[in-house]
Amino acid sequence: MIAAEVVKTILQDRVNNEPENEGIAFAPVNIALIKYWGKRDTELNLPITSSLSVSLNAKGSQTNIKLITAAEDLIILNKEKIANNSVFARRLIKYLDLFRFNSQWHFAITIATNVPIAAGLASSAAGFASIIMALNGLFNWQLSKRELSILARLGSGSACRSLWHGFVKWQRGELENGLDSFAEPLPYQWPELCIGLLIFSGKQKAISSRQAMEQTVKTSTLYSSWPQQVAQDMPLLEQAIKTKDFQLLGKNAESNALAMHATMLSSWPPIAYALPETVAAMQYIWQLRAEGRNIYFTQDAGPNLKLLFLQEDIDEIKRLFPALEIINIGAKL
Ligand code: PMV
Repeated sequence: MIAAEVVKTILQDRVNNEPENEGIAFAPVNIALIKYWGKRDTELNLPITSSLSVSLNAKGSQTNIKLITAAEDLIILNKEKIANNSVFARRLIKYLDLFRFNSQWHFAITIATNVPIAAGLASSAAGFASIIMALNGLFNWQLSKRELSILARLGSGSACRSLWHGFVKWQRGELENGLDSFAEPLPYQWPELCIGLLIFSGKQKAISSRQAMEQTVKTSTLYSSWPQQVAQDMPLLEQAIKTKDFQLLGKNAESNALAMHATMLSSWPPIAYALPETVAAMQYIWQLRAEGRNIYFTQDAGPNLKLLFLQEDIDEIKRLFPALEIINIGAKL
Protein backbone atom coordinates (compact mmCIF):
# COMPACT_ATOMS: atom_id res chain seq x y z
CA MET A 1 0.00 0.00 0.00
CA ILE A 2 1.23 3.50 -0.65
CA ALA A 3 1.39 6.26 1.95
CA ALA A 4 -1.35 8.38 0.30
CA GLU A 5 -3.80 5.46 0.61
CA VAL A 6 -2.97 5.00 4.29
CA VAL A 7 -3.69 8.71 4.84
CA LYS A 8 -7.08 8.43 3.08
CA THR A 9 -7.97 5.27 5.01
CA ILE A 10 -7.38 7.08 8.28
CA LEU A 11 -8.90 10.46 7.40
CA GLN A 12 -11.90 9.20 5.37
CA ASP A 13 -14.33 12.09 4.79
CA ARG A 14 -12.28 14.41 7.00
CA VAL A 15 -10.29 15.16 3.82
CA ASN A 16 -13.12 17.63 3.10
CA ASN A 17 -12.77 19.51 6.41
CA GLU A 18 -12.49 23.29 6.16
CA PRO A 19 -9.19 24.55 7.59
CA GLU A 20 -9.03 26.67 10.75
CA ASN A 21 -6.73 29.73 10.85
CA GLU A 22 -3.73 27.91 12.21
CA GLY A 23 -2.55 24.66 13.79
CA ILE A 24 0.06 24.77 16.57
CA ALA A 25 1.70 21.88 18.38
CA PHE A 26 4.78 20.85 20.32
CA ALA A 27 6.31 17.35 20.34
CA PRO A 28 9.26 16.14 22.40
CA VAL A 29 12.39 14.46 21.10
CA ASN A 30 12.54 10.79 22.00
CA ILE A 31 15.61 8.67 22.63
CA ALA A 32 15.31 4.95 21.92
CA LEU A 33 16.51 2.58 24.65
CA ILE A 34 15.69 -0.35 22.35
CA LYS A 35 16.44 0.88 18.86
CA TYR A 36 14.42 0.85 15.66
CA TRP A 37 16.92 -0.28 13.06
CA GLY A 38 15.77 -1.70 9.73
CA LYS A 39 12.54 -1.44 7.75
CA ARG A 40 10.33 -4.08 6.24
CA ASP A 41 8.64 -1.38 4.12
CA THR A 42 10.62 1.71 3.16
CA GLU A 43 7.68 3.80 1.92
CA LEU A 44 5.53 3.31 5.03
CA ASN A 45 8.51 3.18 7.42
CA LEU A 46 7.39 -0.16 8.81
CA PRO A 47 10.01 -1.56 11.17
CA ILE A 48 11.48 -5.05 11.29
CA THR A 49 11.37 -4.98 15.11
CA SER A 50 9.52 -3.18 17.88
CA SER A 51 11.35 -0.40 19.78
CA LEU A 52 11.07 1.50 23.06
CA SER A 53 11.95 5.10 23.85
CA VAL A 54 11.86 7.80 26.45
CA SER A 55 10.88 11.38 25.61
CA LEU A 56 12.95 14.39 26.61
CA ASN A 57 10.34 16.69 28.15
CA ALA A 58 10.82 20.23 26.88
CA LYS A 59 13.45 19.32 24.27
CA GLY A 60 11.64 19.11 20.96
CA SER A 61 9.93 20.95 18.14
CA GLN A 62 7.13 23.47 17.98
CA THR A 63 5.26 23.74 14.67
CA ASN A 64 2.85 26.44 13.49
CA ILE A 65 1.09 25.74 10.22
CA LYS A 66 -1.44 27.63 8.12
CA LEU A 67 -2.70 27.81 4.55
CA ILE A 68 -1.45 30.74 2.49
CA THR A 69 -2.25 32.22 -0.90
CA ALA A 70 1.07 31.63 -2.64
CA ALA A 71 2.51 29.57 -5.46
CA GLU A 72 4.48 27.29 -3.16
CA ASP A 73 4.97 26.27 0.46
CA LEU A 74 6.87 28.60 2.76
CA ILE A 75 9.18 26.86 5.25
CA ILE A 76 10.78 28.66 8.17
CA LEU A 77 13.12 26.69 10.40
CA ASN A 78 14.47 28.35 13.53
CA LYS A 79 13.56 31.78 12.12
CA GLU A 80 15.30 31.20 8.76
CA LYS A 81 13.58 30.67 5.43
CA ILE A 82 14.61 27.33 3.93
CA ALA A 83 15.05 27.02 0.14
CA ASN A 84 12.33 24.74 -1.22
CA ASN A 85 14.86 22.76 -3.26
CA SER A 86 17.00 21.86 -0.21
CA VAL A 87 17.07 18.28 1.06
CA PHE A 88 15.26 19.35 4.25
CA ALA A 89 12.47 21.15 2.38
CA ARG A 90 11.98 18.44 -0.22
CA ARG A 91 11.45 15.82 2.47
CA LEU A 92 9.01 18.06 4.30
CA ILE A 93 7.10 19.07 1.14
CA LYS A 94 6.79 15.39 0.15
CA TYR A 95 5.20 14.75 3.54
CA LEU A 96 2.89 17.79 3.27
CA ASP A 97 1.83 16.55 -0.21
CA LEU A 98 0.15 13.62 1.55
CA PHE A 99 -2.26 16.12 3.12
CA ARG A 100 -2.65 18.52 0.16
CA PHE A 101 -6.15 17.48 -0.85
CA ASN A 102 -6.57 20.57 -3.01
CA SER A 103 -3.72 21.36 -5.40
CA GLN A 104 -4.23 25.11 -4.74
CA TRP A 105 -3.32 24.66 -1.08
CA HIS A 106 0.05 25.89 0.07
CA PHE A 107 1.30 25.80 3.60
CA ALA A 108 3.30 28.29 5.62
CA ILE A 109 5.07 26.16 8.18
CA THR A 110 7.22 27.52 10.98
CA ILE A 111 9.29 25.03 12.96
CA ALA A 112 11.29 25.95 16.03
CA THR A 113 13.49 23.28 17.47
CA ASN A 114 15.78 23.38 20.49
CA VAL A 115 18.00 20.42 19.47
CA PRO A 116 20.61 20.30 16.68
CA ILE A 117 19.10 19.16 13.37
CA ALA A 118 20.09 15.75 11.93
CA ALA A 119 22.90 15.08 14.39
CA GLY A 120 21.42 11.88 15.77
CA LEU A 121 19.39 13.81 18.32
CA ALA A 122 16.05 12.74 16.90
CA SER A 123 15.12 16.21 15.68
CA SER A 124 13.17 14.68 12.77
CA ALA A 125 11.09 12.57 15.16
CA ALA A 126 9.98 15.62 17.15
CA GLY A 127 9.60 17.56 13.89
CA PHE A 128 7.22 15.17 12.13
CA ALA A 129 5.26 14.47 15.31
CA SER A 130 4.68 18.19 15.88
CA ILE A 131 3.78 18.69 12.19
CA ILE A 132 1.09 16.00 12.19
CA MET A 133 -0.35 17.31 15.47
CA ALA A 134 -0.37 20.85 14.04
CA LEU A 135 -2.12 19.60 10.87
CA ASN A 136 -4.66 17.81 13.09
CA GLY A 137 -5.40 21.19 14.66
CA LEU A 138 -5.40 23.13 11.38
CA PHE A 139 -7.95 20.80 9.77
CA ASN A 140 -9.81 19.96 12.96
CA TRP A 141 -9.52 16.22 12.23
CA GLN A 142 -9.76 15.28 15.92
CA LEU A 143 -7.76 12.12 15.35
CA SER A 144 -6.70 9.86 18.22
CA LYS A 145 -3.05 9.78 19.27
CA ARG A 146 -2.86 6.26 17.85
CA GLU A 147 -3.98 7.51 14.42
CA LEU A 148 -1.58 10.45 14.67
CA SER A 149 1.21 8.04 15.56
CA ILE A 150 0.57 6.09 12.32
CA LEU A 151 0.57 9.30 10.27
CA ALA A 152 3.72 10.64 12.00
CA ARG A 153 5.49 7.36 11.10
CA LEU A 154 5.00 8.15 7.40
CA GLY A 155 7.32 11.16 7.86
CA SER A 156 9.97 9.45 9.98
CA GLY A 157 9.65 6.06 11.70
CA SER A 158 10.78 7.20 15.12
CA ALA A 159 8.34 10.16 14.96
CA CYS A 160 5.50 7.77 15.86
CA ARG A 161 7.01 7.59 19.40
CA SER A 162 7.17 11.39 19.85
CA LEU A 163 3.43 11.81 20.43
CA TRP A 164 3.85 11.22 24.16
CA HIS A 165 6.06 12.11 27.11
CA GLY A 166 7.62 9.38 29.24
CA PHE A 167 8.30 5.79 28.12
CA VAL A 168 6.81 4.81 24.77
CA LYS A 169 6.76 1.48 22.95
CA TRP A 170 6.32 1.13 19.20
CA GLN A 171 4.83 -2.26 18.30
CA ARG A 172 6.12 -3.37 14.92
CA GLY A 173 2.71 -4.70 13.83
CA GLU A 174 2.05 -7.36 11.22
CA LEU A 175 -0.23 -5.79 8.63
CA GLU A 176 1.08 -4.73 5.23
CA ASN A 177 -0.73 -1.38 5.44
CA GLY A 178 0.87 -0.64 8.83
CA LEU A 179 -2.42 0.20 10.55
CA ASP A 180 -1.26 -1.93 13.51
CA SER A 181 2.23 -0.35 13.61
CA PHE A 182 1.95 2.54 16.07
CA ALA A 183 3.39 3.60 19.39
CA GLU A 184 1.75 3.65 22.81
CA PRO A 185 2.81 5.12 26.15
CA LEU A 186 3.87 2.71 28.90
CA PRO A 187 2.10 3.22 32.24
CA TYR A 188 5.28 3.69 34.30
CA GLN A 189 6.94 6.79 35.75
CA TRP A 190 10.57 7.00 36.81
CA PRO A 191 11.17 10.52 38.15
CA GLU A 192 14.73 9.75 39.28
CA LEU A 193 15.97 8.75 35.81
CA CYS A 194 18.19 11.31 34.07
CA ILE A 195 19.57 11.60 30.57
CA GLY A 196 22.62 13.73 29.77
CA LEU A 197 23.40 14.88 26.25
CA LEU A 198 27.10 14.59 25.57
CA ILE A 199 27.47 16.52 22.33
CA PHE A 200 30.63 16.19 20.26
CA SER A 201 29.18 17.55 17.06
CA GLY A 202 25.97 19.33 16.12
CA LYS A 203 26.83 19.10 12.43
CA GLN A 204 24.59 17.50 9.83
CA LYS A 205 25.48 13.81 9.59
CA ALA A 206 27.14 12.53 6.42
CA ILE A 207 24.77 9.60 6.03
CA SER A 208 21.10 9.72 6.98
CA SER A 209 19.58 7.09 9.25
CA ARG A 210 17.28 6.11 6.36
CA GLN A 211 20.23 5.38 4.08
CA ALA A 212 22.27 3.72 6.84
CA MET A 213 19.37 1.40 7.74
CA GLU A 214 18.84 0.34 4.14
CA GLN A 215 22.53 -0.31 3.60
CA THR A 216 22.77 -2.31 6.83
CA VAL A 217 19.72 -4.47 6.14
CA LYS A 218 21.01 -5.19 2.63
CA THR A 219 24.69 -5.88 3.28
CA SER A 220 25.46 -6.63 6.95
CA THR A 221 25.89 -10.30 7.79
CA LEU A 222 25.32 -9.38 11.45
CA TYR A 223 21.92 -7.90 10.69
CA SER A 224 20.24 -11.34 10.79
CA SER A 225 20.94 -11.43 14.55
CA TRP A 226 19.33 -8.00 15.19
CA PRO A 227 15.72 -9.24 15.65
CA GLN A 228 17.04 -11.78 18.21
CA GLN A 229 18.90 -9.00 20.02
CA VAL A 230 15.69 -6.97 20.30
CA ALA A 231 13.68 -10.03 21.35
CA GLN A 232 16.17 -10.55 24.17
CA ASP A 233 16.54 -6.91 25.25
CA MET A 234 12.90 -5.77 25.06
CA PRO A 235 11.38 -7.80 27.93
CA LEU A 236 14.37 -7.05 30.18
CA LEU A 237 14.14 -3.34 29.47
CA GLU A 238 10.40 -3.36 30.19
CA GLN A 239 11.04 -5.23 33.42
CA ALA A 240 13.74 -2.70 34.34
CA ILE A 241 11.33 0.21 33.85
CA LYS A 242 8.55 -1.54 35.75
CA THR A 243 10.75 -2.41 38.73
CA LYS A 244 13.03 0.68 38.49
CA ASP A 245 16.07 -1.53 38.17
CA PHE A 246 18.59 1.02 36.90
CA GLN A 247 21.45 -1.39 36.21
CA LEU A 248 19.19 -3.67 34.19
CA LEU A 249 17.99 -0.67 32.19
CA GLY A 250 21.49 0.67 31.62
CA LYS A 251 23.00 -2.65 30.62
CA ASN A 252 20.27 -3.50 28.11
CA ALA A 253 20.02 -0.03 26.62
CA GLU A 254 23.79 0.26 26.19
CA SER A 255 24.29 -3.20 24.73
CA ASN A 256 21.31 -2.74 22.41
CA ALA A 257 22.84 0.47 21.02
CA LEU A 258 26.26 -1.14 20.62
CA ALA A 259 24.72 -4.12 18.81
CA MET A 260 22.99 -1.72 16.41
CA HIS A 261 26.30 0.01 15.68
CA ALA A 262 27.97 -3.38 15.21
CA THR A 263 25.51 -4.13 12.38
CA MET A 264 26.53 -0.84 10.77
CA LEU A 265 30.26 -1.52 11.09
CA SER A 266 29.74 -4.87 9.39
CA SER A 267 27.81 -3.38 6.46
CA TRP A 268 29.46 -2.48 3.17
CA PRO A 269 30.48 0.24 2.63
CA PRO A 270 30.98 0.36 6.41
CA ILE A 271 29.19 2.97 8.52
CA ALA A 272 30.72 4.41 11.69
CA TYR A 273 28.95 7.35 13.32
CA ALA A 274 31.42 7.53 16.22
CA LEU A 275 34.12 10.21 16.29
CA PRO A 276 37.38 9.61 18.18
CA GLU A 277 35.82 11.63 21.06
CA THR A 278 32.80 9.29 21.07
CA VAL A 279 35.00 6.21 21.51
CA ALA A 280 37.12 7.92 24.15
CA ALA A 281 33.96 8.81 26.10
CA MET A 282 32.70 5.22 25.87
CA GLN A 283 35.95 3.93 27.30
CA TYR A 284 35.82 6.54 30.04
CA ILE A 285 32.28 5.43 30.93
CA TRP A 286 33.37 1.77 31.05
CA GLN A 287 36.22 2.79 33.36
CA LEU A 288 33.82 4.74 35.60
CA ARG A 289 31.61 1.66 35.82
CA ALA A 290 34.58 -0.51 36.69
CA GLU A 291 35.18 1.92 39.57
CA GLY A 292 31.63 1.30 40.74
CA ARG A 293 29.77 4.27 39.28
CA ASN A 294 26.25 3.87 37.99
CA ILE A 295 26.44 5.30 34.49
CA TYR A 296 25.56 3.94 31.03
CA PHE A 297 25.11 5.39 27.55
CA THR A 298 23.15 5.00 24.38
CA GLN A 299 24.02 6.25 20.89
CA ASP A 300 21.89 6.89 17.81
CA ALA A 301 22.72 7.65 14.19
CA GLY A 302 25.26 10.31 15.09
CA PRO A 303 28.46 10.78 17.11
CA ASN A 304 26.82 12.10 20.28
CA LEU A 305 26.16 10.02 23.39
CA LYS A 306 23.20 10.13 25.70
CA LEU A 307 24.27 9.25 29.24
CA LEU A 308 21.89 7.40 31.54
CA PHE A 309 22.14 7.90 35.30
CA LEU A 310 20.07 8.53 38.42
CA GLN A 311 19.16 11.80 40.10
CA GLU A 312 21.11 10.82 43.24
CA ASP A 313 24.37 10.87 41.21
CA ILE A 314 23.71 14.15 39.43
CA ASP A 315 26.37 16.22 41.25
CA GLU A 316 29.04 13.62 40.66
CA ILE A 317 28.07 13.29 36.97
CA LYS A 318 28.17 17.09 36.54
CA ARG A 319 31.66 17.11 38.00
CA LEU A 320 32.83 14.31 35.68
CA PHE A 321 31.15 15.75 32.55
CA PRO A 322 31.07 19.56 32.96
CA ALA A 323 29.65 20.16 29.44
CA LEU A 324 26.75 17.75 29.90
CA GLU A 325 23.22 19.00 29.23
CA ILE A 326 21.06 17.15 31.73
CA ILE A 327 17.39 16.32 31.33
CA ASN A 328 15.54 14.91 34.27
CA ILE A 329 13.01 13.01 32.20
CA GLY A 330 10.65 12.42 35.07
CA ALA A 331 10.37 16.11 35.95
CA LYS A 332 6.94 17.67 35.69
CA LEU A 333 6.70 20.08 32.76
O1 PMV B 1 13.19 7.55 12.39
P1 PMV B 1 14.56 7.71 11.84
O2 PMV B 1 14.59 7.41 10.37
O3 PMV B 1 15.15 9.03 12.18
O4 PMV B 1 15.50 6.58 12.50
C1 PMV B 1 15.86 6.57 13.85
C2 PMV B 1 16.95 5.61 14.10
C3 PMV B 1 17.61 5.62 15.45
O5 PMV B 1 17.57 6.90 16.03
C4 PMV B 1 19.06 5.21 15.29
C5 PMV B 1 16.98 4.60 16.39
C6 PMV B 1 15.66 4.97 17.00
O6 PMV B 1 14.92 4.04 17.35
O7 PMV B 1 15.36 6.16 17.22
